[in-house]
Amino acid sequence: MIKRTPIIDIIKNSDKLVLNEEINIKAWVRTKRGNKGIMFLAVNDGSIIHNAQIIIDVPNFDDALLRSITTGSCVSVNGILKESPAAGQSHEIHATEIELYGTADPEKYPLQKKGHSMEFLREIAHLRPRTNTFGAVYRIRHHMTFAIHKFFNDRGFFNVHTPIITGSDAEGAGAMFRVTTLDMNNLPKTEDGKVDNSKDFFGRMVNLTVSGQLEAELAAMALTQVYTFGPTFRAENSNTPRHLAEFWMIEPEVAFNDINDNMDLAEDFIKYLVQYALDNCMDDLEFLNKMYDKELIERLKAVNAEPFVRKTYTEAVEILQQSGQKFEYPVDWGYDLQSEHERYLVEKHFGKPVILTDYPKAIKAFYMKQNEDGKTVRAMDVLFPKIGEIIGGSQREDNLEKLSQWAKEQGVPEKDIWWYLDTRRFGSGPHSGFGLGFERLILFITGMSNIRDVIPFPRTPHNAEF
Ligand code: 4AD
Ligand code: MG
Repeated sequence: MIKRTPIIDIIKNSDKLVLNEEINIKAWVRTKRGNKGIMFLAVNDGSIIHNAQIIIDVPNFDDALLRSITTGSCVSVNGILKESPAAGQSHEIHATEIELYGTADPEKYPLQKKGHSMEFLREIAHLRPRTNTFGAVYRIRHHMTFAIHKFFNDRGFFNVHTPIITGSDAEGAGAMFRVTTLDMNNLPKTEDGKVDNSKDFFGRMVNLTVSGQLEAELAAMALTQVYTFGPTFRAENSNTPRHLAEFWMIEPEVAFNDINDNMDLAEDFIKYLVQYALDNCMDDLEFLNKMYDKELIERLKAVNAEPFVRKTYTEAVEILQQSGQKFEYPVDWGYDLQSEHERYLVEKHFGKPVILTDYPKAIKAFYMKQNEDGKTVRAMDVLFPKIGEIIGGSQREDNLEKLSQWAKEQGVPEKDIWWYLDTRRFGSGPHSGFGLGFERLILFITGMSNIRDVIPFPRTPHNAEF
């Protein structure tokens, strides 16, 4: 038995391999062509976007075996490594022995040809990792995950695991998925006819978390610099190319940082990730640039070339009102900005990423630090080309009275967040943090146009197959 050589080693590290020696490749067949004398297999094992070329001297092999090798088949091939005379590849493998692990009936295998639509590929999300596009997306997700942990680790942050099942609504927005073990067909009731949650598994009502922030704040008020990276769930019925019901979020939280430090951290963080992708994912980026988005690599470089613009919400509203642009949604002080407004600012007006701060208090979450004007909070949203909001964050309200008063007015009862309020009761201090939507980052890095295509198995309204 010869040890398997990953295809990436043939393409990127061939100096470590010996020419004219026998190697073994295990992979899936992408294409097969040839004639009675010679056959060419392009095979891919996902270690890199490029295929390995296998040359088969047809008369040396069993006819039936060769006929059963079709697009999608899984094979193990021993062969002699040679330099390739053909353009487009440096090496090829001249097969000496072929084992067919699994065939793929050409009548039934759905990935026969190139150029399937994204919609079709979503219906076969269990097979789409075998396409170049989704191979690239999966690999980029991995590299970005690693880069996120590296960025924080190198700067002395600690990763905290915050709960997924929670009794509190961190964003105070109420769009949560209920978690229960109660029998839906036979619900226990209280005397006044309501569902008796005390009979449920946790003896209370709980949900899937919409954010790890509140618990991250508890950790930051002891370890100073922390971050979370976990799944988050939102039951909002937003059927857009930028919303998922289940997505991943990175939430750093830093004691003693004010809103300006928070903006600096967000900008450094995102630029680091973009640079990491340019340095480590170029083969995949070049493929995506060629296939989907001719400006992708230029856009990634452009974002890193200059400082982000920093403006207040109030300034942004003035710019939008004076733009002469027709928007679908109204622009007026006090209304939340819509994606069309955010993208106008970033793509048309400034031509670079923008950080907006000091939003009206009433449209932001209860925990944001209130400004002296009584109307605005120290919020910040980072807005990106093609995406709109990629990061949302703030300095946190550290004054107990202001926080508990405003939480109450916003419909977040003290009994749900008494433990959160305790950090303001005992040793309170200034602190700030933000949340980066991982899939929005991957949308930006890959240039894909729908968020359903940057997560392996998307969850959206009426869609949780696989
Ligand atoms: O602005 P959001 O709601 O902020 C928070 O959840 C804060 N607790 C973060 C913090 O300060 N620690 O969400 C943060 C980011 C958004 O900017 C967006 O990138 C992403 O999460 N996001 C979504 N991504 C995909 N699908 C959805 N439904 C999303 N909702 C938010
Ligand atoms: Mg937000």
